[in-house]
Amino acid sequence: MELTKETKIGVIGAGTMGTGIAQVASSFGHQVVLFDAYPEQLKQSKTALQKILNRQVEKGRMKQTEVDQLISRISFTEKLDSVSDCGFIIEAIIEESEAKKDLFKQLESLTHEQTVFASNTSSLSIASISSSLQVPDRFLGVHFFNPAPLMKLVEIIPGISTSDDVTKQTRSLIDSWGKVTVLAKDTPGFIVNRVARPFYGEALRIYEEGIADAATIDWAMKELGGFRMGPFELMDLIGHDVNYKVTESVFREFYYDPRFKPSFAQKRMVEAGRLGKKSGIGFYDYRDGAQNPSPVQDKVLGEKILYRILAMLINEAADAVFMNVATKEDVDSAMKNGVNYPKGLLEWADELGPSKVLDWMSALQVEYREDRYRPNPLLKRIVRNGEQFHG
Ligand SMILES: NC(=O)c1ccc[n+]([C@@H]2O[C@H](COP(=O)([O-])OP(=O)(O)OC[C@H]3O[C@@H](n4cnc5c(N)ncnc54)[C@H](O)[C@@H]3O)[C@@H](O)[C@H]2O)c1
Repeated sequence: MELTKETKIGVIGAGTMGTGIAQVASSFGHQVVLFDAYPEQLKQSKTALQKILNRQVEKGRMKQTEVDQLISRISFTEKLDSVSDCGFIIEAIIEESEAKKDLFKQLESLTHEQTVFASNTSSLSIASISSSLQVPDRFLGVHFFNPAPLMKLVEIIPGISTSDDVTKQTRSLIDSWGKVTVLAKDTPGFIVNRVARPFYGEALRIYEEGIADAATIDWAMKELGGFRMGPFELMDLIGHDVNYKVTESVFREFYYDPRFKPSFAQKRMVEAGRLGKKSGIGFYDYRDGAQNPSPVQDKVLGEKILYRILAMLINEAADAVFMNVATKEDVDSAMKNGVNYPKGLLEWADELGPSKVLDWMSALQVEYREDRYRPNPLLKRIVRNGEQFHG
């Protein structure tokens, strides 16, 4: 098996992610077969893609001929056996284990034994999906971020059965698509969806305790922290149904570790149908003429908020390294390229001084006596030895 520029790419599921991934592969010259079980979805996918590319022409970023060629390299199909001569097939269907397993079982019977299979799953384990395959060593996770053509990061997740060669070849194929790849262990949330939990969870906790309102917490994270969006704006944009589901799944998968505990405030938002921007109201009101509260621009309060959330984020980044989920370089790269953090969290810890971060964590632990705030052993070790993460 050799994945090259000539490899024909199969994409299963022509939704948001599948359409984006097909666009990426085609823009790098691959022939792409984009399959969906629903013809209506295929039509929508083609229209959406055409619209995105037309905008590129209007902005002068692409020529019409390039757009035409890009689209002509993608064959939209509702026949699954059209992917039979693809060398690399990536699945982006609904996030349901049984549906994914059924699909891979079918794909295995339709394709060459050398074909590499990948799943774009965000929350299912690679091991569990691989159990449906007779030859699981050619299967792995390849996790793109939304929108796939714009977001640089792709997490590459070998499962326990994946061969080293498949991992290596897949990584270099995705690298050749101009992406930044990181290697993650098959653990809940991989890198980004694990390390980013406190950005939402600790912000919600601060809000629930009544320390500050959503606008003030968002202000602190943006103005003082340099994050592009505040946690509440971001949750409103992602949708509380989606964000809450990820939090709940990570919490469950970590055997109910209190670090990942979901919040009642967000659960109530979901229950009330206040899903965020898409439903017109979430923590903020997006309806015509709505007035939203202004933040309290108090620097002392703002720094208290920022450093509490940041300490929790750094503690989580340290844990990902401590538990061998990824290297420190990949953890930093993942947060910068997958969720646009202004700095890598471990770089940030080095800049602030790891002992300061440990002090913040220890103060939270003393204050609350909750396991949620336990400082990570790697952070403690680094401080004890007078080292830095990127020493
Ligand atoms: N949306 C995101 O932000 C995001 C980011 C990273 C990963 N993911 C993951 O990518 C996958 C797809 O997510 P999405 O947001 O593109 O979903 P989506 O709902 O936009 O698209 C899913 C598509 O799969 C099709 N489909 C469903 N069941 C099918 C089947 N059995 N066979 C073939 N096609 C089928 C649907 O018709 C639909 O077109 C999920 O596993 C999701 O967890 C999503």
